[in-house]
Formats: sequence, C-alpha cells, structure tokens
Amino acid sequence: MAKWTADQLPVMTGRTVLITGAGGGIGLVTARELARVGAHVVLAARDLDKARRATAGMRGDFDLRHLDVADLDSVRAFARSYPGDIDILINNAGVMDIPAARTPQGLDLQTATNYFGPFVLTNLLLPRLTDRVVTVSSQLHRFGRLDLDDLDWRARRYRGLAVYESSKLAVVLFSLELQRRLTAAGSRVRSVVAHPGVARTGLVKHSKLDVVNRLPFLVQDVEHGALPLLYAATQDVPGNAYVGPDGLFSFTGHPLIRRPGRAGRNPVVAGRLWRATAALTGTGA
Ligand SMILES: NC(=O)c1ccc[n+]([C@@H]2O[C@H](COP(=O)([O-])OP(=O)(O)OC[C@H]3O[C@@H](n4cnc5c(N)ncnc54)[C@H](OP(=O)(O)O)[C@@H]3O)[C@@H](O)[C@H]2O)c1
Repeated sequence: MAKWTADQLPVMTGRTVLITGAGGGIGLVTARELARVGAHVVLAARDLDKARRATAGMRGDFDLRHLDVADLDSVRAFARSYPGDIDILINNAGVMDIPAARTPQGLDLQTATNYFGPFVLTNLLLPRLTDRVVTVSSQLHRFGRLDLDDLDWRARRYRGLAVYESSKLAVVLFSLELQRRLTAAGSRVRSVVAHPGVARTGLVKHSKLDVVNRLPFLVQDVEHGALPLLYAATQDVPGNAYVGPDGLFSFTGHPLIRRPGRAGRNPVVAGRLWRATAALTGTGA
C-alpha cells in the first residue's frame, strides 16, 4: 500500500483550522502544510513574538492569536473573543517531563498544558466546531496511571515523566468520551487522536529522554512527526481513530490507524474522568 505523505493533502480552501502550540515544532509544520493547501489556519501560541519569527516567510492564509493553554483564564478569554466557526481544532500544545510548577489557577502546569487546557478549550469551542477535534497524544500514554481522586497531582509525589504519561492517557480517554457524547447528541463532529511517534523537536529538552534525539534510527524529522496530525485532520477517519506512524512500535513512519493502549479504551473510566475534570475545571458538565 502506498505510504501517505503531505503531498496527498486535499485542497482545504474555505476550511478554518485552529492549532494550539503552533509557534514551533510539530504544530508549526502542521500549520504550514495546511496553509499550503489553502486552509485558513489560526496559529495559537503563548509567545506571539516567537510565533511571528517562526512564521516569517510562511505562505498562505493564516493568522496568529495569543493562547496559553495552561492558563484557564487565557483559554476562556480566547474562546470568548474568537470570532466565527472553526472546522478543525488541533489540540497540539504540550510539554514533557517539566519540573513541578503551578498555573495561575493553582493547577499542575504539565497536566494543565496537556490535558485540562485542551479539555476546557474543546468544550468551550464545541458549539462552533463543524468537523472534528484532533487531540495529540503520545505512545507514552501506554504507561500512564490515572488517579481520578488526584488528577491534579496534590497527593502523589510529582514525577515529571509519570505526569506526562498520565496526561497523555487522559487525552486519549477524553477523546473517547467526547466521541461518545457527540454520537449521543447526533453530532457529525468527530473526535480523533493523533500521535507523532518520536520526532526530533524541543519537547524533550527537560527530560532524560532527550537521548532519543541522538538516536537517528529511533527518531524521525519533524515533518514526518506532523504527518499523523495532518492525516487525522484531513482524511476520512472514523471517530475515535488513533493515528500514528506505521513503523516498529509506531516510533517512525507514515500515518496509519492504530490502537491505543488498553487503559485508553475503557469507556467507564473515560466517563468518570470527564466528570472529575468537569468538576475540577468548572467546564464541560
Ligand atoms: N516530538 C515527539 O516525539 C512527540 C511524541 C509524542 C507526542 N508529542 C506531542 O506532540 C505535541 C507537539 O510537541 P512537539 O514535539 O512539537 O514539541 P515542541 O517543539 O516543544 O512544541 C510544543 C509546542 O507547544 C507549545 N506550548 C507549550 N506550552 C504551552 C502553553 N501553555 N500554551 C500554548 N502553547 C504551549 C510550545 O510553545 P513554546 O514554543 O512557547 O514553548 C510549542 O509551540 C505535544 O502535544 C507533544 O506532547 C510529541
């Protein structure tokens, strides 16, 4: 079977795509490719100056907007002020294995960036979404352990990598429950998950896993890392699809629909997680 590449992107003229964390890494490449094929791309970034520099010379129809997904006031302000509909929301912004810190609302910073922020943003934008939500996870979700009574890492000892793994499991379950709710409501909007495999970006800069960036056979370039997001955002994939690279352990390669880990397929836990998160964030009840 032919490998899917960005050359097979459809024409996206007339479609609006919002990408979080689009000022660098995989989000920036995803934005650039979608703008190249005619989409109107909204790059949401926490550092607008950096995003401006990163998009200097980028072609196509795009604009930049400030959004710090970890800060729920910023997420709410963004959703309030965003004009019009969005066809495709790509929840891409993420941090990995960062030192313990709290957001202005007192939430764990890593979990807020990777999970609480996307949860609130998606819920607030949902009435204006026409096509799909793509949420970016990681194969590391397979090691995630959720404690529904301690989603915010107050009772447990903070361990950066464990927090990352849990947050990436949380978004897989979030996507599962979101699809269930959309289907129950008779909505045609889809909820899907994409993961980039292992791509050489700045994500690992805080982590001892930064060693992977020095192992060429384990890691792919950022353009390949963006392919699963582009595929999930533009191809006719079913709701709940989990899209990742087709290579060994899904580390590298071209996009294919794969299966998340067992814990990411549990609808009962997904429902409980949603309710616990809605209670914690005051959104999505
Ligand atoms: N690279 C991989 O191998 C890999 C593997 C699995 C999953 N992923 C996932 O892929 C996504 C993109 O990561 P990447 O590899 O492209 O890493 P990256 O180069 O570090 O990019 C992450 C992006 O998220 C942004 N961001 C971080 N915190 C934010 C916040 N509070 N509000 C708004 N934006 C924020 C960053 O902005 P700044 O530039 O301002 O820091 C940056 O633009 C993440 O969700 C990551 O977990 C990546």
